[in-house]
Parts: sequence; C-alpha cells; structure tokens
Amino acid sequence: MTAQPALFGRPETSGTDVMPRHIGIIMDGNGRWASRNGLPRSVGHERGVEALRRTVRAGQKMGLEYLTVYSFSTENWRRPVSEVTALFGLLRTFIKQDLKRLNSEGVKIDVFGTRNGLPDDISKLLDLAVSETSSNDKFRLGIAFNYGGREEIVRAAALIAQKVQAGEITVEQIDEQTFSDALDTRTYPDPDLIIRTGEERRLSNFLVWQSAYSELYFTEVLWPEFGEEQLRDALLAFTTRERRFGGLKSGAA
Ligand code: FPP
Repeated sequence: MTAQPALFGRPETSGTDVMPRHIGIIMDGNGRWASRNGLPRSVGHERGVEALRRTVRAGQKMGLEYLTVYSFSTENWRRPVSEVTALFGLLRTFIKQDLKRLNSEGVKIDVFGTRNGLPDDISKLLDLAVSETSSNDKFRLGIAFNYGGREEIVRAAALIAQKVQAGEITVEQIDEQTFSDALDTRTYPDPDLIIRTGEERRLSNFLVWQSAYSELYFTEVLWPEFGEEQLRDALLAFTTRERRFGGLKSGAA
C-alpha cells in the first residue's frame, strides 16, 4: 500500500495510517436531495454525475488506485421506466462527454455487472469505454452498472462449473482464489473501504463477496453534495480503524 504522509502520516493516528487502495462507493440520496430542493429526481441524478466527476478527480489527486461506483443496480429496474430511462441517458452523456478526458488522464475504465436487459447502444458504449481505456494504468474506475453482487456470484459459480465440466479444473481445486478470479472484479483488489452516502446503513447487494473485510463508512451527506472534502473525511475515518482480518489486536498476543 502507498503511504500518504500529507494526509495520513499524523503521529497521533493509531489506526491503519495508510491510504486505501480500493474504495467502493454506494452513491445514494440523489432523489432525496432533489425533493428537498424542490427539483425533479432526474435533476438529483444529474447532480449525482457531477459529484461522481468531483470524486474521481479527488481520488486521483489523493493517490487512490481503484474506485468502484455503484451506478445502476439489478434492483433499480423496479423504478419507474422514466427514471430508468433518465439514468441510461446520464450514462450515455457521461461516456460521450467524459471518455476523452478520462482517457487522456490515464484512467482505465472497467464495467461490472450483466449486460442482460440493457439497450444495445448502452452495452456498446460500455464496451467502448472499456476498450478505449484498456491500456491506461494511472487510475482504475470500476463502473458497477446493471450490477448485483448475488447475480455476479451466481455467474461466477456457473463459470467455475463450466470449467469443471470441460475438465479444465477439478472440484478439489476450487478455492477462494478460484472464486475471486471468476468475478467481474477479478483484476481489482478487494475494497479496503466502502462508503455509502445518504443515511441508509446497508450494502444493498454491492460487492457482496469482495466486501468480507472492507471497512464501512456511512455518511448522512446526500450523494449530490459529495466531493473532495467528504472523501477526505471518509479517508481520515479509515485511518483510525484497526484492520485485523480475523487476527488479534496488535500487541494483544
Ligand atoms: C441513488 O439515489 C442513486 C442511483 C440509483 C443512481 C446513481 C447514479 C448516478 C450518480 C449517476 C449515473 C452514473 C453514471 C456513471 C452516469 P436514489 O435515487 O436512490 O436516491 P434516494 O434514495 O434519495 O431516492
């Protein structure tokens, strides 16, 4: 892990004192932000995209390596068609407007989730974002789109079963690494920190396997109001956590 003295080398800190490599964010509260401001929900989502831009910029600046954002869940199909359509529209705009800049900044985009049910043009745009940025290595942006942790796990199980059936591996060879390697996130380390904005305190099917040892940070800030300052607060909170991964507190043995 990369030590970040400017932010995290505070001598009084007793926690991890290091920068997380991978942060996952559940960007919640767009709708509430909109209704509190007397605006349509779609405007809340538009402001959500601006918050996403600010947060990616802040993450790059702070030396984060991987950021995964929960943009559209497999459960979001339950929303009114007009809202689903608006969210797809925002993804189109985001890729069309931001891809060139992200590419020039060395951002590699990865997409997690299933393509089932997505309009063809959305699927093609997601492919384009991945292929155009595939040789970048300065920052990894994971877009969880039409993503559900359980759905991802089921696909991983099916993939492993196919490999067994094809004689590529034996049942005895299946271990946690086999499983991690069959997930969409296979090239990402597990998230060190998961942030959820907007008051709720649950994972809502986000990175279910990968979050086994993640630190969780919940903030009442609604996603459209999130940015550099709020990311910094989350990172500072992370530094005070002692991560034991099932082991003992340091000095307890
Ligand atoms: C949760 O707010 C947010 C979402 C369901 C979508 C998040 C999407 C974006 C921030 C923009 C689209 C992303 C890309 C990559 C273009 P909510 O609607 O559940 O808020 P509420 O709980 O207050 O109703």
